[in-house]
Amino acid sequence: MCAVIDLTNRVKSIEYAIRDVVVYAKKLEKTGKKILYLNIGDPCKYDFDTPQHIKEAYCEAIKKGYNWYSDSKGLPELREAIAEKEKRVNNIDIDPENVIVTSGISEAIKMVIAALIDNGDEILVPGPTYPPYIAYTKFFGGKPVAYRCIEEEGWQPDIEDIRNKISEKTKILVIINPNNPTGALYNEKTIKEILNIAAEHELVVVSDEIYDQIVYEKRHTNTAKIANEIPVVVFNGFSKVYLAPGWRLGYMYFYDPEGKLENLREGIEKEARIRLSVNTPAQVAAITALRGPQDHIKEMVEKLRKRRDYTWKRLNEIDGITCAKPEGAFYAFPKINLGNKWKNDKEFVLGLLENTGVLVVFGSGFDPTYGKNHFRTVFLPPLETLEEAFDKLEKYVTS
Ligand SMILES: Cc1ncc(COP(=O)(O)O)c(C=O)c1O
Repeated sequence: MCAVIDLTNRVKSIEYAIRDVVVYAKKLEKTGKKILYLNIGDPCKYDFDTPQHIKEAYCEAIKKGYNWYSDSKGLPELREAIAEKEKRVNNIDIDPENVIVTSGISEAIKMVIAALIDNGDEILVPGPTYPPYIAYTKFFGGKPVAYRCIEEEGWQPDIEDIRNKISEKTKILVIINPNNPTGALYNEKTIKEILNIAAEHELVVVSDEIYDQIVYEKRHTNTAKIANEIPVVVFNGFSKVYLAPGWRLGYMYFYDPEGKLENLREGIEKEARIRLSVNTPAQVAAITALRGPQDHIKEMVEKLRKRRDYTWKRLNEIDGITCAKPEGAFYAFPKINLGNKWKNDKEFVLGLLENTGVLVVFGSGFDPTYGKNHFRTVFLPPLETLEEAFDKLEKYVTS
């Protein structure tokens, strides 16, 4: 007889609320219940599509024979196109040699944490945060520490709390701007203060800017642009703004005017070599994405703005729910008055799913302290779907 194979503690402890809730939904779907999926940040699952010229560039790349392993750091021409884009959109000068193409930002997160976090080391992440920052830190034996973001101030980071939570073990300070799950857009003053704290304590600043061009009223501030001599690792990619999440393509670049990140860059280049390369035809198409027409971005943001406005209005009209206005990305992170109807936000979310078929993600999955009593919804679906979902939510909350 075969013994049951045991897993490492590292793998046993992995949790990922955004996808974990889907398991419950799929079970329910099998019984014939209609599910309204408001849980996942993939625009292509709704009525958004990868621009035609980018899709064609991918097909052409395969036909033309770009089917070999590419340079581990990414195709040189793509790294140049990324540097051009950063100049055009953010007016910063990045040397293509300081760009590393990755299999999505997901891989960039894993690589940077693998390079900097040893057992017991700490990483400061926004509270609430995008969960892989927590999961990968634990995976590599580190300790994620959440700094408070202030809901009443549109979820801006609490600078004092960041200061108080730095210890001798802190290695990385993460900014996610615009933010997932809150939709917050950080103001320049806050980013500057975070940069100064990081410089004072010699922390590596990681700035995740995957939603940089999905903003509504205000402009996005690129962290590197205002960093002066302070080094920053910036993450970006093609999953959101270029509507190609399934291509699994992202990048990081090192803004490093004084060469302080050289060691880190070399370490990450080694990590890149052991996984050979990133999808080559997708990289070829990404060059077209960056250098070709950009019209789809404006169209997407206009469509999303209407859905954001509707979502925000509907949520705040429900007795027992309040929601800060998202200023970027495509998420809202409302607060629930649980009263004595529900034990916690997970019970609220699973009850909502079971009773109405509406699937959102429980807030504590983004941080047990700062995410609790909340849930995250996307506002990607068309207005009719949002209307149906919020009608059902309203009934569930008020009945
Ligand atoms: C803040 C943030 N970073 C990174 C990612 C993942 O990006 P990628 O698809 O490039 O791995 C997401 C996806 O939702 C995200 O919200």
